[in-house]
Amino acid sequence: MSPDVVTVELANGPARFHALWLRDNASGHESRHTGSGQRLFDVTELPDRVEVVSAEVVDGRLYVTFEPDRFSSIYESDWLETHRYDRPVTSGFVGAVPWLAHDLSIHRLMWPDRAKTSSLAETSKALVRDGVAIVDGLAAGGNEGPGVVDVANLWGPARETNYGEVFLVRAEVAPTNLAFTPKALNVHTDNPYRCPVPGYQLLHCLVASETGGVTVLLDGFQAAEVFRSEDPTAFALLTSRSVPFRWRGGGFELWNRVPVIEVEDGGPADGSIRAIRYNNRSVEPFDLPFDEMADFYQAYRAFARLLHRPELEYRFVLNPGQCVVFDNERILHGRDGEADSERLLKGCYLDRDWIHGKKYV
Ligand SMILES: [Fe+2]
Repeated sequence: MSPDVVTVELANGPARFHALWLRDNASGHESRHTGSGQRLFDVTELPDRVEVVSAEVVDGRLYVTFEPDRFSSIYESDWLETHRYDRPVTSGFVGAVPWLAHDLSIHRLMWPDRAKTSSLAETSKALVRDGVAIVDGLAAGGNEGPGVVDVANLWGPARETNYGEVFLVRAEVAPTNLAFTPKALNVHTDNPYRCPVPGYQLLHCLVASETGGVTVLLDGFQAAEVFRSEDPTAFALLTSRSVPFRWRGGGFELWNRVPVIEVEDGGPADGSIRAIRYNNRSVEPFDLPFDEMADFYQAYRAFARLLHRPELEYRFVLNPGQCVVFDNERILHGRDGEADSERLLKGCYLDRDWIHGKKYV
């Protein structure tokens, strides 16, 4: 032990903790609210110089006393093991398992099973793992039945945007978005121009297309990992710069600036892919420094080409009465071939927290 660092023997080996870190993370009713566990003080309220004067492990608990105020706190060994930061950084995905097209078996939830907590919990788990699931047994054609907002409400309120709570995907005479035409659509993530970017997207098919209209899904986390392994320099460039996205229409001008591939910065999962934003329709002219533009374009084009590899593309037809739910900052979606103008989908968005943050125990 030194005044600045305490070393503790834990289940997975010794770990060092800084005195200031321990003081800032003190337990007890003076430091933490009894009900919520939230911190009761601001870091500015701590002494300028925090030192440890005694540290001792007794029965699996670390007892520490600090100077200059003789403040004491107790730390459970399990808690220290969970929060240890003295370890090698490892990359990985929190709950996500990136997939290739032939590995994916989309989890399905039949509407009547929604009432079972276990069925909904399984679906949520599949969404975190695969980034996609299908809810079946909904309204189809002109028939009455549960719709896309009812599916969103299994988890939480639909995220309303300037499109409204629900948007229609069908051929329009004067579309404000290319998605609202029958044309084939390049794989993309939706609405990177919104701040924050919508977390989950739900698309409910009411009327299918007689021809074309095949849905293409692609795991952006998998694509990014392939890109990183094949061209680490280009990967580093694409993750270190943001690009602008914009959408104008209906009295709105929406603008956001985000990286195409966002990675965790620091922490135990340093370098893990956190989000993908790719949309060739709404990306603005790149505004990077002159000296970086050529290299950035090379990296951007290489990643865009990778997004068309057949082994990454999962193709299927969404039938009437089915709703596909997918992580909009992970799974890219597109439409292969021109759809009939009768094809009708209803869509909405849902914040990630409603699915990723929900506990079922
Ligand atoms: Fe879209």
